[in-house]
Amino acid sequence: MSEITLIGLGSMGQAIAKALLDHNVALTVWNRTAEKREALVNLGARGESDLGQAISASPLIIICVSDYAITHALLDQSEIVPLLRGKTILQLSTGTPGEVRKAHQWVIEQGGRYLDGSIMVYPQTVGTEAGQLLVSGAEAVYRDCETYLGLLGGDVRYLGEEIGAAAALDLAVVSRLTAITPGVIHGALICEAEGVSLEQFAAMYPPGDRAYSLAMTIHNNDFESNIAASVNVAIGVATSIKRQSQELGINSDFPDFQLSLYKRAVAAGFQNQDTASLIKVLRADTRN
Ligand SMILES: NC(=O)c1ccc[n+]([C@@H]2O[C@H](COP(=O)([O-])OP(=O)(O)OC[C@H]3O[C@@H](n4cnc5c(N)ncnc54)[C@H](OP(=O)(O)O)[C@@H]3O)[C@@H](O)[C@H]2O)c1
Repeated sequence: MSEITLIGLGSMGQAIAKALLDHNVALTVWNRTAEKREALVNLGARGESDLGQAISASPLIIICVSDYAITHALLDQSEIVPLLRGKTILQLSTGTPGEVRKAHQWVIEQGGRYLDGSIMVYPQTVGTEAGQLLVSGAEAVYRDCETYLGLLGGDVRYLGEEIGAAAALDLAVVSRLTAITPGVIHGALICEAEGVSLEQFAAMYPPGDRAYSLAMTIHNNDFESNIAASVNVAIGVATSIKRQSQELGINSDFPDFQLSLYKRAVAAGFQNQDTASLIKVLRADTRN
């Protein structure tokens, strides 16, 4: 038996696995693409090629795949469902509060326990003091997972028993983050039109700030190396914010506005470029 089984070994899953292995947690790992297990097996994880065996190996199952639809496709299989009874599922994949509530209900119906977490940092920061996670769900389940969560970051915030709270706060924070991009791009249009250097614009922000990197990306006219977030990623995030607005029946003008801009960038062929590439579309709009 292991203490934890981790399903999903993408960039974030690798970081989670390493943080747990650094603290000698007995870890079983499973991933659709088998090669991603190898480095972790070398670090002491038990690699499992069969999903059912992987789930049977531990009482706590951490899931970190791209989204909830994939999670559901993996778990809702006739040979997997009976194995969930008595297991604790810690879902660290990103989803909307509505998706979280559905998944929570479904896991409970299968006889499992469910805790939802949102990782608020990049993979490099997981396992450090600066690592930040939001967690929501039944307090007893949280208390059982608390020690392991503490290995993933120094700033773990338990938001209470409302299962959708972590996903909701995650979306709210991401909403503010995404608002920076169109604001900075419009600021760059102002600087270009008024003859103010984009380096001076960038220097208004600390180097780690997204506003700084957006302004410098535009200044360097290089939208394809060191991509912080691609147009496709921005569309994915705006789509999630819009979906959650629709689920709740709240105003969706803001995600609609973002989607209308980014769809123009996609039409221009910039989907895999940094979101700063949107300026190339907007420069072409001259309205006098
Ligand atoms: N990376 C970040 O900065 C970050 C920050 C906060 C939160 N997150 C969240 O963490 C989660 C994982 O992100 P990531 O960065 O690790 O993504 P990633 O590197 O793209 O990895 C995606 C993971 O999902 C698996 N997957 C995708 N489609 C699948 C399918 N049809 N069946 C089975 N497995 C499938 C992949 O398996 P394969 O290896 O076989 O493709 C891989 O393990 C996401 O929900 C993301 O929003 C990421």
